[in-house]
Amino acid sequence: MNLTELNKIATAMVAPGKGILAADESSGTIKKRFDAIGVESTESNRRDYREMLFRSKEAMSQYISGVILYDETIWQAAADGTPLVKLIESSGAIPGIKVDEGTQALPMCPGELVTVGLDKLAERLKKYYERGARFAKWRAVIDIGSGIPSMTAISVNAHALARYAALCQAAQIVPIVEPEVLMDGDHDIDRCYEVTQRVLNKTFQELRVQRVALEGMVLKPNMAISGKKCAKQASVEEVAEKTIRLLKACVPAAVPGIAFLSGGQSDEEATAHLNAMHKLGPLPWGLTFSYGRALQAAPQKAWSGKAENVAAGQSAFSHRARMNGLASRGEWQS
Ligand code: 13P
Repeated sequence: MNLTELNKIATAMVAPGKGILAADESSGTIKKRFDAIGVESTESNRRDYREMLFRSKEAMSQYISGVILYDETIWQAAADGTPLVKLIESSGAIPGIKVDEGTQALPMCPGELVTVGLDKLAERLKKYYERGARFAKWRAVIDIGSGIPSMTAISVNAHALARYAALCQAAQIVPIVEPEVLMDGDHDIDRCYEVTQRVLNKTFQELRVQRVALEGMVLKPNMAISGKKCAKQASVEEVAEKTIRLLKACVPAAVPGIAFLSGGQSDEEATAHLNAMHKLGPLPWGLTFSYGRALQAAPQKAWSGKAENVAAGQSAFSHRARMNGLASRGEWQS
């Protein structure tokens, strides 16, 4: 493992003014997104859509540091035969790959999930590296509800995240470690804070036990935020203040970067929260976005599967990327 090189890539992923485009929706998830805009989820439609994003010159060259791809996409070529990975590289962004294989029910823990995909991961990482991937992503899902999460669910998911991260670093790939505490539910921001703290502490404990070099990884956490159905929604300032307090308490300064998921926040909220956090600096790590929905909802709507809307889709994507790029410097204004 060349840690200097891993650290260089991790640092580039969270460079000020830039963040990550999470375009790694599984076939099931992208179908849901396409259903919402009345587009059939065929392989060529998925390709056309993602090609549109990766050819958005302004967004890709100025505001996007890296793109997380799904397995299908990393092997796909643009309509003119150029591999999509090459489009991303030539824009100056770094290609990455989602490597978990989704979640399964966790035995003995009703309602809880464990992320799977460790079998043969070393071989898969080797192929992805050869194809150009320089970072990877693994998402663990922790739900908040009555009596959950259990310590069992937190432990097994943290263990798997660390197993994945160690395998990535051995394959010279920067792991994005994503323990997502869901914002579904009616819990308040303090309950989210408390659960996320347990999850992050357990995750870093496992990362240490399994000898993962913190300098060669990126953390992708949720923010400390009110549950979607909570009657009392915390303000932008409270989300920013509590999230920074939480991360300072749990994330060692050796970690080069933190890139948030959007998790169901509206486009504007996701931007406003990141921006407000940068008003609380200086911060010990790079802090930016790794948004899926909060970057893609607008371009999906503008595109709606029509070739004549490609320019409108690209301009909607570039707008959100620019807003989040500004927020990653604390320079966004509503
Ligand atoms: P959202 O920003 O839509 O939560 O997606 C980010 C992601 O990669 C979740 O794994």
